[in-house]
Amino acid sequence: MNWSDEIQNWYLQHKRGLPWRNTTDAYTIWLSEVILQQTRVEQGMPYFYRFLEKYPDVTAFAKATEDEILKLWQGLGYYSRGRNMLTTARQILEDKEGIFPTTYNELIKLKGIGEYTAAAISSFAADEAKAVVDGNVYRVLARWFGVEEPINSPAGKKLFQTLADEVLDRKHPGQHNQAMMEFGAMLCKPKNPDCPICPVREACNAYQTNRINLLPVKLKT
Ligand code: ADE
Repeated sequence: MNWSDEIQNWYLQHKRGLPWRNTTDAYTIWLSEVILQQTRVEQGMPYFYRFLEKYPDVTAFAKATEDEILKLWQGLGYYSRGRNMLTTARQILEDKEGIFPTTYNELIKLKGIGEYTAAAISSFAADEAKAVVDGNVYRVLARWFGVEEPINSPAGKKLFQTLADEVLDRKHPGQHNQAMMEFGAMLCKPKNPDCPICPVREACNAYQTNRINLLPVKLKT
């Protein structure tokens, strides 16, 4: 088994049953990923359900007022996310007849959708071979490869994207990306990671060199 297979194998045995993983609907995935960008899963879950119930598709979302969106967003913080979502939704309604795009190239052109969200939606909704890089993925890659380059330096960002692309399972990009995030969130945790039960510890650079608690490196900004 290659490395990604090991991670996916772990994922299939240990994954949480999260609602946005049972869909290939781009709108639903978008909703979940934007909510989860700066919010923990347990906190974001009720908001995800409330939004989906009130706005079952991107057209319904686009027709909401900003006040309505911000009211439903209350308590989540980073309110610009809600405002940006409205801009994105309205652009999809106007330019794409309310059909949520699923290709990376179309998604990245939309105002309010960045690399992370475009990679997440295109890989989860359409299995496009785009590697997702978030905080979990930084940590897993930094430890596995023993990278000391800071995750938030320009060179680091480039390097981690390259490494993420390198390990991506191009046959199962959606599952690979979910597995990377889940592995980082549940096993390869920031503090007290579960190295003793990690399926890839034998070849993990940080584990073998006793640097688990030193990686990833992040520059103070
Ligand atoms: N955090 C961000 N995206 C996630 C996802 N798809 N599943 C679990 N946690 C996440």
